[in-house]
Amino acid sequence: MTTFDVEPLTPNIGAEIHNLDLSQALSDSVMNELEHALLDWKVLFFRDQNISIEDQKRVARWFGELEVHPTAVPGAEHAELIRIAEDDQRRAHNDLWHSDVTFRHSPPLGSILCGRVIPPVGGDTLFADMYAAYEGLDEKIKAKIDDAKAVHVWPDAWVNMAMKSQNLDQDEFWRRYPNPAHPVVRKHPQTGRRSLFVNTAFTRHIVGMEKSESDALLAFLYNQATIPEYQCRFRWRKNSVAFWDNRCTQHYAAADFYPQKRVVERITISGDKPV
Ligand code: SIN
Repeated sequence: MTTFDVEPLTPNIGAEIHNLDLSQALSDSVMNELEHALLDWKVLFFRDQNISIEDQKRVARWFGELEVHPTAVPGAEHAELIRIAEDDQRRAHNDLWHSDVTFRHSPPLGSILCGRVIPPVGGDTLFADMYAAYEGLDEKIKAKIDDAKAVHVWPDAWVNMAMKSQNLDQDEFWRRYPNPAHPVVRKHPQTGRRSLFVNTAFTRHIVGMEKSESDALLAFLYNQATIPEYQCRFRWRKNSVAFWDNRCTQHYAAADFYPQKRVVERITISGDKPV
């Protein structure tokens, strides 16, 4: 018996959850249902959630430990919160297809993003179903990538920020945070389904492959996230919330809203090592 209503946005990915107030303490049975909905729909959307950062953290904590982004100042109040707003150049930096933080050895399980300041139009977030992206590949490509690994790298600007915020020199930084090689196709730890796990933001080359071949294959694989049949698109309102499973989705924030303002706040849930 479900205690809330689930309205799919597309046949594959994305569902809006109605009649659930995330500011209330929710029972384990409701949270179990929510987890099932997340596993089925990969990204869930909620409207009119007047939630505090503590509420956002409480919901996230049911799913796992909260992640402190390596560029955050350790020990700061709400170090787990990432506030995403345009910078001085009016750039938001999330207008590219990616899964969050895949340059970590154990990338996040998922993220909960809350819309705090939303433009009247624009700034939608698009999500792609990476199970569908894998399943849509032809068998020859699958055979080529099924056992392959790819290196994911830290963006340079974040290396500098992390060294500064954690007071580390280069050697210590790379000792703590070496770039990982993740499987190109990962198996979801809960559903057992396979998904394509490379992204334009952080993946750089396929291990053991000539650069030209790796570049061409990665370009083809990145492009799968851009296929409309694998996607849904979310139009934000103030106090809307999106909760995505980072293990089987990618997302892209449309940077079409300037000079309007857009501020969203993310709490990220730690995940496990992709296999
Ligand atoms: C993100 O990439 O984590 C944020 C996406 C968004 O701003 O919609």
